[in-house]
Amino acid sequence: MGTADHISDVAAEGFGAGAAAYEKGRPSYADDVVDWLVRHLGIGPGRTVVDLAAGTGKLTRLLAATEARITAIEPVDAMRDQLVAACPGVDALSGTAESIPLPDGTVDALTVAQAFHWFDPAVALAEIARVLRPGGSLGIVFNERDTREAWVADLSKLIRWDERERWRVPYTVEVDWAAVVAEHGPQFQPAVRYDSSYIQPMDPDTLVQRVLSTSYIARLPEAEQTALAAKVRDLVAPLGPSFELPYVTVAYAVPLR
Ligand SMILES: C[S@@+](CC[C@H](N)C(=O)[O-])C[C@H]1O[C@@H](n2cnc3c(N)ncnc32)[C@H](O)[C@@H]1O
Repeated sequence: MGTADHISDVAAEGFGAGAAAYEKGRPSYADDVVDWLVRHLGIGPGRTVVDLAAGTGKLTRLLAATEARITAIEPVDAMRDQLVAACPGVDALSGTAESIPLPDGTVDALTVAQAFHWFDPAVALAEIARVLRPGGSLGIVFNERDTREAWVADLSKLIRWDERERWRVPYTVEVDWAAVVAEHGPQFQPAVRYDSSYIQPMDPDTLVQRVLSTSYIARLPEAEQTALAAKVRDLVAPLGPSFELPYVTVAYAVPLR
């Protein structure tokens, strides 16, 4: 699997097995968040932009609309295949955050959506700083399920992200990424933060796909996946055939020093 050898087994196997489910079940990003990133990272026609850990291209396709020159980097072949289908005209490379397959000083802006928790932060930040041009910026964005909604809190318990240590996932998703960059990325200025939200139109089948696309769930034995799917269906049965899954979204813009 090429450079996927250098990423965590949980990511390589989970995202490899769950790529189609990922594309169907995961949220996109709200227009205001994309606009904010575009403004703060100076993304636009003629600019060179890298979407790192691009997955199936959920953020990539929104950035492509700006007519910037976009390169997507993603280590898992099955995720990259989905991206190539969804983002015509975007260059897609195999590579990792810890070993970015680009020359020094060639990128105006680099985005990382829903993926920084997989990286070795010091190594990745040094690599990102290496490929950015002077004046370039890093953008980080995360959607987190909004657990102020009771059924969403119950869903999160079912997904058992809290057992992540068992799966050796290095960070929770509720991290202050400005602090992580400040600690591990001396090449960068302090981050500017933007808070927003996203509402994903949802139905029981898509939600099951979404749960099964969670990296460590996608690699569970089939019987366990089937049992979990049944629990998810029971949980949302009272919500009817269509409902909304709310997220809080946090974005950061981090200029090079
Ligand atoms: C949750 S997905 C996010 C995908 C996409 N950016 C999005 O917004 O939907 C995380 C992605 O990070 C990738 N990944 C994991 N470890 C990585 C690493 N060390 N370097 C680059 N990508 C990595 C995975 O293969 C996966 O596609």
